This record gives sequence, C-alpha cells and structure tokens, in this order.
Amino acid sequence: MENQTQITQLVQRAQEALQKAENLKELDTLRINLLGKKGELTGLLRGMGQLSPEERPAFGQMVNQAREKIESMMAGREKELKASELEARLVKEAIDVTLPTDLPRLGNPHPITQVLDSVVECFIGMGFQVVEGPEIELDKYNFELLNIPKNHPARDAQDTFYIDENIVLRTHTSPVQARVMAAQKPPIRVICPGRVFRADEVDATHSPVFHQIEGLVIDKDVTMADLRGTLGAFARQLYGEGITTRFRPSFFPFTEPSTEVDLTCFVCKGKGCRVCKGTGWIEVLGGGMVNPKVLSANGIDPKVYSGFAFGVGLERITLLRYGISDMRWLYEGDERFLRQFS
Ligand code: PHE
Repeated sequence: MENQTQITQLVQRAQEALQKAENLKELDTLRINLLGKKGELTGLLRGMGQLSPEERPAFGQMVNQAREKIESMMAGREKELKASELEARLVKEAIDVTLPTDLPRLGNPHPITQVLDSVVECFIGMGFQVVEGPEIELDKYNFELLNIPKNHPARDAQDTFYIDENIVLRTHTSPVQARVMAAQKPPIRVICPGRVFRADEVDATHSPVFHQIEGLVIDKDVTMADLRGTLGAFARQLYGEGITTRFRPSFFPFTEPSTEVDLTCFVCKGKGCRVCKGTGWIEVLGGGMVNPKVLSANGIDPKVYSGFAFGVGLERITLLRYGISDMRWLYEGDERFLRQFS
C-alpha cells in the first residue's frame, strides 16, 4: 500500500513538473530525472528487493504503468512545447509584406528599341528573317559591292570614318545586303537592323551615330509592286490604317530604279499640317529595285532573279511615331524623357 502511494505521488509530481517545464531543454532534464538510469522510477524498482516474492509482480506492474503514463504525458508536453516554440519563431521571423519597400525602380525599353521591336515583328509576320552585320566594315561591302567604286563621287553623300583605306565604320546597313547575297541563295527575305556612322555634326535631325533597318528581297519575278505592297503593310502596321505610301524618283548607286518613299502624314492623315509642312506626306525611307550590277557582283544572276531593297532610318520613324521634335532627346539618357515611354 505504501508502495502504491509512492508511485501515485511520483506520477502526480511528474505531471506537475511537466506542466511547469517551459522548454524542450527543461523537458529533457525531467526525462533524465524521472525515467533515466539513475532516475526516481528506477530507484523505486530497486526497492523491490525488500518486497516479499508475492508482492513483487503487482509492484512491477504498477511501476511499468507509471512509466507508460509518464512517458505519454511527456510526449504530450513535448508536442505542446514544440508547437509554441514554432509559433514564437514564426512571430519573431515574420515579414510584414504590407510595409513599403525600397524596390529598385523599373526601367523600360528605350523608344528606339520599342519601335525597332514593332518593325521587326511586322516583317517577321511577312516571312522575313532578321540578320545582322558588323559595324566596322570592309570598304568592299560598304561601297564597292554596292556599285560605289573607290574615288566615285557617290561616296561624298556618305562621308564616314575610315579606320584605314579598306576598313570603315559602316555608313549604312546596306553592306549586310552584300553579305547576305554572298551567304544565301535566293529566295532571300531579310531585314537587317543596326547602328551606322557618318561624319555629321549633331543637331536636331543629325547624329554621327544612328540606326537603320535594311530590307532585302530577292526571288524570281520580284517587282516594284512587291516593294509597294510590303512598305504599305509596314506603314499601316506602324502608324495605323489609312496610311499609304508615295514613291518619288530618286537615286542610289545600288538600286535601279530608286525611290524616296513618303508616308501619309499620320498627324493630319494627308490634309496638310505643320508636321508635314502642309504637304500631307512625310519622307521616311529610301529604296528601289536592286541594281542588276549589284546582283551580279554578288554572284546572283540578274537574268533569273530580281529584288528590291530599302533602308529606313530608325530614329526618324521613332521621332515621327511619338511626335518628338529633337533627335538629341533620344541619346541624352534623361530619365524625365525616357520614363514617358514606359
Ligand atoms: N542605304 C541607303 C542610305 O543609307 C538607303 C537605301 C537602302 C536605299 C536600300 C536603297 C536601298 O541612304
């Protein structure tokens, strides 16, 4: 009977101690003190030697029951402590997602890039391929293969930076035409965007570094009508329905016949306004039928194939599209200007 009371009291004390344990460390200490090799329960078992043989089995059973009870209480308490420790950590480590932050400000593509992207998209839609060429170019590709021989006065129109006698900063994207013809058999349908260079002073409409997009199509039976249709689709895509093209005779050594291409003024839709200086038209690009001399110089038989080519000034169509009055804005990197295109 005395033994039984001892055990009951032990279990009761254990229960109180477990409730008081505030963390897992304290719980571990309790485990050792109660259930360990030198713990209280083991101590009780040791006292069993003094019992009579008849009393022993019942006592042993009581001790085991007590152990089970304490173990399950301990497991219960352990679960509670773990949960509250986790809870405490979550509260401590929580991030308040509603607080204002110092996120870096997001930029946006440059207006030139945006216009280039839509031009590229438009021509890819018509089955063109995008090809790029080097900015530092051989005189051969920039001039000679385009029917502009050395010392020919036609070179004056495109004064450039010579690196040496045979290497120039390309004055236009047209050398990519020659490179494509050398590398590809017709049918050819490419656009070639890129940076070009000319010895020009900076002003509202000029820069020594600017961008062009070259177009080249070579196949059997390509005519001026194809050039018109293609540029018409391009104009509508870029500036909207109702925009058409007007071709005026012009001259380029590498196209014959050559043309300046105007688009309906997208501001007044052709009625005449300040932007188009009352004409209803805006000059946008140069083009023409690829000169047969250029075809044969680049290994394509002009009796079998014909083609058209054109060159668009990317800055020019960007200024027109957004109604920007001075080209220098495009290069100055002034955020107040650039943010307007986000
Ligand atoms: N390369 C010419 C220029 O820069 C434009 C052009 C390209 C004209 C293709 C005709 C054909 O002025």
